Amino acid sequence: MNIIVAEDEAITLKRTQYFLEKWGHRVITAQNGLEALEEFLSSEVDLIITDWMMPEMDGMELVRHIRGKGSEISFVYIILLTSREEKKDIVNALGSGVDDYIVKPFDPAELQARVNVGERMVRLERSLKEYGSGLEKIVRRQTSVIRQTQEETIIRLLSALEMRDKETGGHVRRMALFSALLAEAAGWPAQRVSDLRLAAPMHDIGKIGIPDIILRKKGQLTEEEFEVIKSHTTIGGEILKDSKFSMLQMAYEITLFHHERWDGKGYPHNLAGEEIPEVARIVALVDVFDALSNDRFYRKAAPEEEVLKTMNEGRGTQFDPCFFDLFIDMVPKFKEIAKEIV
Ligand SMILES: [Fe+2]
Ligand SMILES: [Fe+2]
Repeated sequence: MNIIVAEDEAITLKRTQYFLEKWGHRVITAQNGLEALEEFLSSEVDLIITDWMMPEMDGMELVRHIRGKGSEISFVYIILLTSREEKKDIVNALGSGVDDYIVKPFDPAELQARVNVGERMVRLERSLKEYGSGLEKIVRRQTSVIRQTQEETIIRLLSALEMRDKETGGHVRRMALFSALLAEAAGWPAQRVSDLRLAAPMHDIGKIGIPDIILRKKGQLTEEEFEVIKSHTTIGGEILKDSKFSMLQMAYEITLFHHERWDGKGYPHNLAGEEIPEVARIVALVDVFDALSNDRFYRKAAPEEEVLKTMNEGRGTQFDPCFFDLFIDMVPKFKEIAKEIV
């Protein structure tokens, strides 16, 4: 072990050093607490044997400094050398971060036995710490794998659904990223952003219940047919309702309310303003943006200016004006993403 011995009495210092080196330890000597502290801060130390009464900085103050570092340093075992035999003093010292004590003048066999206990404690404390941080790493890695698996599963299943109404395959992927970016810009906490990233792609999951003949109709929809299309919100709501998981509760709100409008003229429930859940307000924006910016089987993609002009007409009527302004700032980033995901 690397051991610091702090002692102002030359004979005791020499004697302690002599035995410790004889038992195979590497010894750093210090004449007072201050010197010991400097040595401690500049080298790897396993154990400190310190006298109590010393000039400059006494043993107890040295202990306070070292223990004050908390978990930023690796564990070090501290033995106090003392000529005080008063029980009260010793109990106080043990309560202030000292691990053990030896009364001077000491018997070498006692020193050896106490140093050996120290060595065992250092080994134990350190392996416990390593074990703890190893576990933390494993849990973090596993959590991220689960999250990625969820995301990929959701996106792959929804891409299958998209193939039916021939939307571009990248729509659900872009919805995940656009919505998450917008929520992040709005200052949402990381966990909610990550939930939204999984939940947003599900917005049109209810289209699974719409007959092909209506969903894939190329011409103008009749009023009845449009009513059927509108029901994809409530069908989606039925699919996702009553989950106990926050991500799926969010997906439920998005699915049911992503066609509501800020002015209350949307569907299915004519909610207005802040009655519409925030998640649905975000998804409504990025959904329209992505739909207009890409080809659909019934029309071609519009150029960016036209998309933004059309959407701007909906600021404060169709869309939440606050999220709309945030959204406009994010458009350059969305365009970058859209280049990658087609
Ligand atoms: Fe929709
Ligand atoms: Fe969509």
